[in-house]
Amino acid sequence: MCGIIGYIGNKQARDVVLKGLKRMEYRGYDSAGIALLNGGLHVTKCKGKVKALESLIDSKDEGFVGIGHTRWATHGEPNDVNSHPHTSNSGKIALVHNGIIENFNSLKQKLESEGYSFYSDTDTEVAVKLFESVLDKNPELSLEKAVQLALGQINGAYGFAIVHADFPDRIIVSRKGSPLLIGVGDGEMLIASDASAVAEYTDKVVYLDEGELAVIQKDSYQVLDSNDVELTKEVHELAVSLEEIEKGGFPHFMLKEIFEQPKTISDSLRGRLNPDLGTITLGGLSNVMDKLVNTKRIIIAACGTSWHSALFGEYLFEWLAKISVEVEYASEFRYRDPLINEGDVVFVISQSGETADTLAALRKAKEKGASVYGIVNVVGSSIARETDAGVYLHAGPEIGVASTKAFTGQVTVLTLIAVSLAIHKGVIEKAESDRIINALARIPSQVQSILDRSEQIKNIADLFTYAPNFLYLGRSFSFPVALEGALKLKEISYIHAEGYPAAEMKHGPIALIDDMMPVVVIAATKHTNDKMVSNIEEVKARKGRIISITSEKNQEVKELSEFNFTIPDTEDVLSPLLSVIPLQLLSYYVAVNRGANVDQPRNLAKSVTVE
Ligand code: F6R
Repeated sequence: MCGIIGYIGNKQARDVVLKGLKRMEYRGYDSAGIALLNGGLHVTKCKGKVKALESLIDSKDEGFVGIGHTRWATHGEPNDVNSHPHTSNSGKIALVHNGIIENFNSLKQKLESEGYSFYSDTDTEVAVKLFESVLDKNPELSLEKAVQLALGQINGAYGFAIVHADFPDRIIVSRKGSPLLIGVGDGEMLIASDASAVAEYTDKVVYLDEGELAVIQKDSYQVLDSNDVELTKEVHELAVSLEEIEKGGFPHFMLKEIFEQPKTISDSLRGRLNPDLGTITLGGLSNVMDKLVNTKRIIIAACGTSWHSALFGEYLFEWLAKISVEVEYASEFRYRDPLINEGDVVFVISQSGETADTLAALRKAKEKGASVYGIVNVVGSSIARETDAGVYLHAGPEIGVASTKAFTGQVTVLTLIAVSLAIHKGVIEKAESDRIINALARIPSQVQSILDRSEQIKNIADLFTYAPNFLYLGRSFSFPVALEGALKLKEISYIHAEGYPAAEMKHGPIALIDDMMPVVVIAATKHTNDKMVSNIEEVKARKGRIISITSEKNQEVKELSEFNFTIPDTEDVLSPLLSVIPLQLLSYYVAVNRGANVDQPRNLAKSVTVE
């Protein structure tokens, strides 16, 4: 949420910052702004997208030091004044911020009483005035010392980048609860909230940890902890290629990412699944496999789409590995007093690895003595670094705000973990694990065969583009898919949609069904087929419009449906990997037909780094 970029070097900072902002626009797109140092401070900012900002900047906006921001509004509506950077009353300091300053009201009152003036409705403005007041009171301090001193007064979450006209050779950055990294170049340095913004310039990055502050200069960087002690930080090699962060000929990132899934699922399986031997190797969990085998209970915490994967994980771990599982919304878990017993294991699932609530749930679980393992996509992210062990998705950067390939990556990884655990525990017959492993190896080509028929889904989408509501029904492993299908539709097309366990429909939502209501039925698991057939009959009896997703072998459901899309036959436990694909496509085509901004849906942003 909110993209931050900074540059210091020999290039025009304006060009690097604008390019970086475009790459990070998926993190927030309410407004954008840039501050350049060139014999003074020059700030340009406006409501709207980076394109609008670009049109305000001209070649006279020069300078070799700059910071920029693309905003997802928390405090204060998106308008020119509330846009970042915010500046000090002297006009010398500018800063950009990601996060929320919780005590901004009391700080503001204090600063106002000291004579500082405020112009915006944001929480962020107090930070720049606070830094200014510390410097005004202690003019002998360096910028970094003043910032360090002031940070002690700020409660809440932040990633800050700060420039000062009197200290033109440096950018100061600090993080607490919001990601920041340093891109280490040759005679130039970058800072960013996201690796995609620096990938073009360097493949060397340093991740800042909680409470750290860094002084960034053209040829060096210095990282200090909150006690002012200098740290030696590991330099990581960035594994993001430019190709991965561009659209590659697709009209939208979301469509590109949907079509990447045969490859991304293969990448999740690579080196882990061995169909010839019927084995699974998960290097990231090898040291903790004994603990997992002996655990009596697994808790999985996540948000949004990742929570849907977690729910699937619950069904799967119980079904295959015979382990009791509880699934938690990370945002609830963190504020409860959850009972963690000795030996409990907590998994956190997150595409970005930066979701504030998931990170807080991780910390809470650790505090309570649990071992916490991660299922994460972004390498080097906060969650990846703070978990005790884990498995990466290897899905590559996901830029479309609506999660697609991360969901199938998470489901793939959960399946690998569940089957592996079942084998280690000796609770699965070899014939069954061999069957699942072999079927899993076929999934990428089966996903491709679905994508090859995307036109069929487009035809269905064309008929239902203006439906005001949708209902999604599924049972067993298809229930999390129903939730995910409904979420995809509502977030990018703004159509109200609900996912329900099919039988639960009778306890309320059935009242909504009439001849205007499209009901998407995911009838993809054989062991619940008879019951799904009954539910379809119940919908039909009330004239609901059935759009079914079912196996190509399921003649009965096909015949009962007004519209049907078939998926290749597979094991019940693997069916979500196939049945979710047509639902992703359905939401995409409906949203495009409605003229919605698919990659940047209103009010949303990728990577929710505020609670
Ligand atoms: C929906 C979506 C969100 C995320 C949620 C968690 O398409 O993308 O619901 O799934 O914000 O994000 P991560 O997985 O990054 O923790």
